[in-house]
Amino acid sequence: MSLDPRAEGAHARLADVKRILAVTGGKGGIGKSSVASVLALASARSGRPTGLLDLDLTSPSTHVLLGYPTAFPEEPFGIDPCDHHGVRCMSIAHFARDHAAPMRGDDTTNALLELLAITNWRELDLLVVDMPPGLGDAVLDLARIVPRAEHLVVTTSSRVVLHSVDRMLQLLGKIGAPVAGVIENMTRASSAASAELAARHDVVYLGALPFDVALEDAAGDPDALCATDFAGELQRCLPALGL
Ligand SMILES: Nc1ncnc2c1ncn2[C@@H]1O[C@H](COP(=O)(O)OP(=O)(O)OP(=O)(O)O)[C@@H](O)[C@H]1O
Ligand SMILES: [Mg+2]
Repeated sequence: MSLDPRAEGAHARLADVKRILAVTGGKGGIGKSSVASVLALASARSGRPTGLLDLDLTSPSTHVLLGYPTAFPEEPFGIDPCDHHGVRCMSIAHFARDHAAPMRGDDTTNALLELLAITNWRELDLLVVDMPPGLGDAVLDLARIVPRAEHLVVTTSSRVVLHSVDRMLQLLGKIGAPVAGVIENMTRASSAASAELAARHDVVYLGALPFDVALEDAAGDPDALCATDFAGELQRCLPALGL
């Protein structure tokens, strides 16, 4: 257990959050932020108090996908996430706006700890966390600071992506991080490779989300996002996630 008081602050802030799902994936650009954003929206729309934490500290994108404002949030005692279409959203974008925020070494750990330690999530049934690509500091820090966070691993049927997701599942297994399941994104033709990968790691295969050209135009518009085939298929995966 860390002696950093911010880690204890983070636990206190998350005390009334029932489940934490971190959307991870070994490669960039495979749809983690899209899955995280639409999952949070779908969960909130089904009546569950839901939050969304963007932990992509150098390149946050959930505010672009959902269109939530990046004005500095309310700050009574700690920081209140902004409520956007029923989802309580928090991102480094509230602090850095759309300026580049270079981070090296301990900067990532510090920013992650501070975001977790200052945010008033209050009572949530679900907190979705959008993770940056890869097996870097953010994944390791989240698993260390919030060991109950369950990882929802996004893959595609590309061999390159499957290879890196295989390594990610190995790593999550090694550090004992719970895995909520594997979901395939941008599916164009049926392939059994993602389901086989999930089976090899003894984790749940949640299904496949179609390649959906409507997604790009729906960015920034929650109603349009929820009307996509992508959202419809993601909705079908919720029961397998216990949602
Ligand atoms: N199923 C899909 N069909 C069509 N386009 C998609 C699909 N999923 C994601 N995209 C598009 O792919 C691009 C990357 O998606 P997204 O930002 O969600 O990926 P990411 O894994 O979060 O990327 P990064 O690793 O950079 O954080 C976006 O333009 C998004 O609209
Ligand atoms: Mg992303």
